[in-house]
Amino acid sequence: MEPSARPDGDGLADRYGRVATDLRVSLTDRCNLRCSYCMPPEGLPWLPSPDILTDEEVSRLIGVAVRMLGVTEVRFTGGEPLLRPGLTRIVAAAAALRPRPVLSLTTNGIGLDRLAPGLRAAGLDRVNVSLDTLDPERFARLAHRRRLPDVLAGLAGAASAGLTPVKLNSVLLRGINDDEAPALLRFALDHGYELRFIEQMPLDAQQAWDRTEMVTAAEILAALRAEFTLLPDPAERGGAPAETWLVDGSTAHDGSTAHDGGMARVGVIGTVTRPFCGDCDRTRLTADGQVRDCLFARHESDLRTAVRSGADDEELARLWRVAMWGKRAGHGIDDPTFLQPTRPMSAIGG
Ligand code: GTP
Ligand code: 5AD
Ligand code: SF4
Repeated sequence: MEPSARPDGDGLADRYGRVATDLRVSLTDRCNLRCSYCMPPEGLPWLPSPDILTDEEVSRLIGVAVRMLGVTEVRFTGGEPLLRPGLTRIVAAAAALRPRPVLSLTTNGIGLDRLAPGLRAAGLDRVNVSLDTLDPERFARLAHRRRLPDVLAGLAGAASAGLTPVKLNSVLLRGINDDEAPALLRFALDHGYELRFIEQMPLDAQQAWDRTEMVTAAEILAALRAEFTLLPDPAERGGAPAETWLVDGSTAHDGSTAHDGGMARVGVIGTVTRPFCGDCDRTRLTADGQVRDCLFARHESDLRTAVRSGADDEELARLWRVAMWGKRAGHGIDDPTFLQPTRPMSAIGG
């Protein structure tokens, strides 16, 4: 069936019965780190400024998604979204929408200590912060910048501003930080952060991903189980990428009581070995105004041109519905014909 054959209806449905209600908005492709699984050390050619949606254009499209297309959650991403000058304004505009969407941010944490109170006041609900290692030398090797203290300050700032639950994202790389899973979990338990490990995905700009080098969900779980007891999590997973377990927070060194009843949560996002595409509820908007129906999509739908040539909200909503109708059943990483998206992770937003 062609995308144009999409039946009438309100939401962002696809032909496999999924309906997207979670919008991920990339606000910039720029970043102040160079994590090796994402960007080369020398950086990338950034998107040309005239192509980047203005604050008003982004806010208008978020409004169309929330008011007309059934989107209930909006996640701001990058590159590094804290580098977007208009971030607080964009958050405030989204918070003024009715029905009010849940608003969150995925960030590397640099500068968050300074920005967290203003973002909270603007209506941001919570944050996810990337943290792959607790060792400053490893951090420098992995991210090509000596910024671990800034990230830790950002985390503390987010928690004290009430951007909670603060979730941590860790990617383990063989030979660099693959022995750090238990230490990262202990750190998360000590501070009341919810840690998730992410399998490395074929999304790096260098196209150097090698499945045989990837630290798998099974390996991560085995490393955690060597030091912690993981119990099944009764919470409904829904469309969440993370599969979660309960872990006894009292195994934390400092006996901190930041978690309910001593139990905390730990997750694994096993995109490659435990795909969850059948339950996916996501749609994406890039900083240059393209709708992506999947993290791994190789096709995009241009909303920027429509916005700039005077399309009304009904027309934008229609284009977005058609874009999502074309979503494929899965990411296809296991297919022999799989090709990485041409747009790098830093310009997709994770
Ligand atoms: P919350 O748990 O609700 O905060 O959502 P989240 O896990 O999506 O948050 P985050 O933005 O921190 O993303 C964590 C990891 O999940 C990143 O590596 C993302 O690339 C990955 N991820 C996010 N959305 C998708 C998706 O649609 N498909 C896949 N395969 N991975 C995703
Ligand atoms: N594989 C897995 N996770 C990645 N991230 C960035 N690139 C990759 C990749 N190739 C993670 C970041 C961040 C989140 C948005 O995505 O660490 O936490
Ligand atoms: Fe920046 Fe995030 Fe990419 Fe790291 S993963 S280089 S923090 S955009």
